[in-house]
Amino acid sequence: MEWLGDAVELTVQGALIQTMETIVSPQEISKIFVIGATGAQGLPVVGALVADRKYSVRALSRDATSRRAKALLALGNVSILEGSFADEAVLREGFRGCDGAFINIDGFNTGEKTEIYWAIRCYEIAIEEGIRFFVYGNLDYALKKAGYDSRFRAGHYDGKGRIGEWILSQNLANRDRMGAAVFTTGPYMEMAISAMTPMTPSVEDGILTWRVPLGDGAVPHVALEDCGYYARWLFDNPRRANGMNLEVAIEHVDYRKLAEAFEKVTGHPARYIDTDLDTYWAGPLKAAANFPAGYNADPADKSTMSFRDNFTGFWNIWKHGMIQRDYALLDEIHPHRIRTVEEWLRREDQRGRALGMGSLWERVQPQNMYTSAPLLKLSEDGRKGAL
Ligand SMILES: NC(=O)c1ccc[n+]([C@@H]2O[C@H](COP(=O)([O-])OP(=O)(O)OC[C@H]3O[C@@H](n4cnc5c(N)ncnc54)[C@H](OP(=O)(O)O)[C@@H]3O)[C@@H](O)[C@H]2O)c1
Repeated sequence: MEWLGDAVELTVQGALIQTMETIVSPQEISKIFVIGATGAQGLPVVGALVADRKYSVRALSRDATSRRAKALLALGNVSILEGSFADEAVLREGFRGCDGAFINIDGFNTGEKTEIYWAIRCYEIAIEEGIRFFVYGNLDYALKKAGYDSRFRAGHYDGKGRIGEWILSQNLANRDRMGAAVFTTGPYMEMAISAMTPMTPSVEDGILTWRVPLGDGAVPHVALEDCGYYARWLFDNPRRANGMNLEVAIEHVDYRKLAEAFEKVTGHPARYIDTDLDTYWAGPLKAAANFPAGYNADPADKSTMSFRDNFTGFWNIWKHGMIQRDYALLDEIHPHRIRTVEEWLRREDQRGRALGMGSLWERVQPQNMYTSAPLLKLSEDGRKGAL
């Protein structure tokens, strides 16, 4: 069943969606099927697609009545298709009648193995159903980039990264029938000031403190607001984007610089404490360490990675600098992109104040951080839900 919304509010979770008047390009795609639309990434992507009514979106959600699904409907030009991506009939219904697709399969639901299967089926069914431009929500194929060294193995990265490469190779033969682009993001910057993430900070003796196993490394964090712009750019520029792997980030964020920038922006003390992996896993994430990284992955399947194994590889990737970005290309594609963590913190502070959420310093206090709406839908749902 498809649910229709007609309101014209341009906010999602209170966040103002950037308007896109600056983008001018031939109109090729009009209706986009989005998987992952109610997620942290999907909300700004859908917001950017429908902001000026250039595109309409059919968003897949397992629950059309959720707070986030309703926020999407309130944008206008959005309908919700209720169902799961792990169902061919639902995928067919989702793609049929659309000409574009933005597909972000939630590997933290499925686990790595099942994610790979459904991502492949999405691409295949999209072609069969006549999609003309397919954007795949990707993460770096970190294992390969690290020279196939298993210290750098994170299932939620490799599960996407392999498929990103596979799609680009399929696209060599299929590009005139269905164009495809891979949109490679990375850890959301927002996670560094949010509860229940691998980089959630704590306030210790009045000092905002990040205790993470990053050494002298840096995380190429992405700004969700910019993800909306980039996704929109891919659909607006299908000829250039066809066959492209657009790898994005704000900058490589060194957490010492993150703490310095936080102090500068808020006037309150902050620090980064490099933490060895054993200490990290004895901390707030201890209870989750042995759970499967994907909440519907089979714990008895030996291919299933635990949280601990998955995020140990994840931190090693950043600690040892395995992932690069072409920042000059990003400057060209998005001249007004957020370029530094300080700029991001400043904007976030202002945005929070404007929305009545308080200053950044107030927002990271535990009584506020743990009671405000979670960044990730998966946290909002308590890591539960159907495959
Ligand atoms: N956290 C990060 O920093 C980060 C960065 C880049 C990429 N990613 C990747 O992004 C993916 C998750 O997206 P997110 O970050 O936006 O997380 P999120 O906020 O937890 O959102 C999860 C999304 O997936 C949808 N979903 C989950 N299972 C589904 C199913 N069976 N059928 C249809 N939709 C389903 C949810 O929709 P409903 O609940 O409405 O059905 C929701 O829209 C993961 O693969 C993750 O690796 C995460």
